[in-house]
Order: sequence, then C-alpha cells, then structure tokens
Amino acid sequence: MKRRFAILPGDGIGVDVTREAVKVLQVAAGKNSIELELESFDFGADRYLKTGETLPDEALENFKTFDAVYMGAFGDPRVPDMRHARDILLGTRFRLDLFMNLRPIRCMADRLCPLKNYTAKDIDFVVFRENTEGLYVGVGGIFKKGTPDEIAIQEDINTRKGVERIIRAAFEYARKHKRGKVTMSDKSNALRFGHDIWDRVFVEVASEYAEIETNHLYIDALTMQMIKNPTQFEVIVTCNMFGDIITDLGAQLQGGLGMAASGNIHPGQTSMFEPVHGSAPKYAGKDRSNPMAAILTAAMMLEQTGLEQAAAQIERAVSACVDAKECTVDVAGELGCAATGDAVARRVSDGA
Ligand code: IPM
Ligand code: MN
Repeated sequence: MKRRFAILPGDGIGVDVTREAVKVLQVAAGKNSIELELESFDFGADRYLKTGETLPDEALENFKTFDAVYMGAFGDPRVPDMRHARDILLGTRFRLDLFMNLRPIRCMADRLCPLKNYTAKDIDFVVFRENTEGLYVGVGGIFKKGTPDEIAIQEDINTRKGVERIIRAAFEYARKHKRGKVTMSDKSNALRFGHDIWDRVFVEVASEYAEIETNHLYIDALTMQMIKNPTQFEVIVTCNMFGDIITDLGAQLQGGLGMAASGNIHPGQTSMFEPVHGSAPKYAGKDRSNPMAAILTAAMMLEQTGLEQAAAQIERAVSACVDAKECTVDVAGELGCAATGDAVARRVSDGA
C-alpha cells in the first residue's frame, strides 16, 4: 500500500504540531506496511512576504495528484489582513470543492469535560459544516468606503446542490456509523430566504433515511443545548458560518482547541486535513503547543484514504496518552509538544 501526502506546516505552531503529526504518521505507516511518500511545501506567511505568492494555481493542480493534503495552521501578525491564510486555506477548500468539513467533538477524559454533571462519555458527536458556500463565498463589496455613507455587503449563498449534498453526507455518515439521529441547525426563523431552503431540503433528504431520527434547532438554541445537554447530539449538520462558530464551542467540550481535529472532504477526491486551531504565533517554536489535534487530524486523513486500521491505532494511542497524562499542560499533562508526539508514537509502535 502506498500513499502520497502533501504537507504544508504553514505558520506559527503549525510547524511544531505538523512535525509531531508526521512523526506519528511515519510510525503508524511502518506498523501497517504502508509506504508513505510525504512532500513538504512552504506556502505560508514567510513565502508570501518574500515573494508575494500565496497559493499558485500550479500548486493547487499539483495537490490533486496526491492522495490527500495536510495543513498545520496559517496566520501571522505580519500579515494583518490574513490574505495568505485566506488564499491557502479557503482557496484549497473552495477550489478542490471540499464541501464537507467534518469536525468530531469527542471528549477523551473526564478531566477535560468542562461541564458540571457531565463526563467524557457524554460528549461524542460530529459536526458536518458546509464548507464551500454561505457567507464565505466572497460575494459582495464595499461602496463609498471610509465615508459616513459606507455600505458593506456580504452575500450569503445557499444553493440547492450545496445544501443537499452536505445534508445527505450527514445522513450517510449516520447510517454508516450507526448514529441514530441527525440534527440540522439553521436560522430560518430570521433568514427567510437563505435558510428556508435548509428546512425544506432537510425534510426531503431525511425521508430517504427512515431509520434515522431527525431534529431541527435554530442556531441560537443549538449553542445553548450544546452546553445544557450535549448528550442529545450524534450528528449535527449546518451552514459554513454556524459550523465555524459551533466547532470552536465544541472544541471546548473536548479539552480545548488543542484536541479538535478536522477534515475538509470531498469523497473520492483529494481532500485536505487541518486541525481546527490557528497558528497561535506567541507559542510558535516554544515546544508548548498541544499536537493532539494535529495528530488526530492525521488519523482522519488515514481513515479517509482507506487506512482505517492505522487511523484507529493512532486514535487509541492518543486516548491512552491523554489518560496517562502524557500530554501538554493545557490538557493537564506536563510534557512539551515534541515529547507528546514521542509518547503517541511510542504507543502506536507498541500497539496501543
Ligand atoms: C477554521 C478557521 C477558518 C474559518 C479561518 C482561519 C478563515 O476559523 O478553520 O475554523 O473560518 O473557516
Ligand atoms: Mn474557525
């Protein structure tokens, strides 16, 4: 078995955590007789500042020749408008048509659960965030900029195709993984046009999955319920913007951004994997950042490219390390970033 992955560590702690993810990938590959070909790319703030280049068209075309693309994090205080991060991250999502942003919310240890009256086992669901439409498409403009009459318009695009395919993906996932319920969240009580379509399509698609229970919550109520009673959720599907917001909230239910993995997926095509967290420039190079999100994201990449066994080994190793407090300070361990990566790699190697 051979897999080719493009690796973009990116900026800040992206570099630190990607190093650990690659370390663990290599050990898991060795254990499972997978021949790994990793090619690194230096797209990020440094390159942008030096050359003005963010993500050239040829690079994107080249990505399509890989089994998957892995990214660390993007963002640098020297690029205040985040131009390069938008081009690289959103550019890849949009131009590779990676319409599913799959973000699991799973708490691995009781001590990481921030909610009174709940424990780790109560927090276990996945979010399907629409990833190619909504408020993120960049349709709009600014008129009379900088004047008292300024008008700023940001259009919210919801297409039949886009809404249907993400809702269907959520139901397919539920069916495959024996999850009994899909919750759809929108704001159709206020957004009469853009979100009415979510309501209608959800009911239509749900009718094809009679065995799966359905639930609809407006996004404000959903955020409240995520804190009040997270146990009720199995699969949540929502639009791009709301998915962005609730997955940061969800990260806090699983021990913080250092634990939150994410995949940007188009089944059957080259997909891209990047942890939910950003580049945290102030912690860059300090061996402090938590690599677990990056490592779990690498496991998602293996799973999505047909290497389920290796993916499951990595997940078990991370979980065992968290249990044994072989992890960073943010999740109540005492190790640095590199030592945490070593600990996970050791457990993968020992067959955790
Ligand atoms: C995320 C990030 C991005 C997003 C930013 C960096 C554009 O917050 O992946 O959740 O909003 O999608
Ligand atoms: Mn986000």
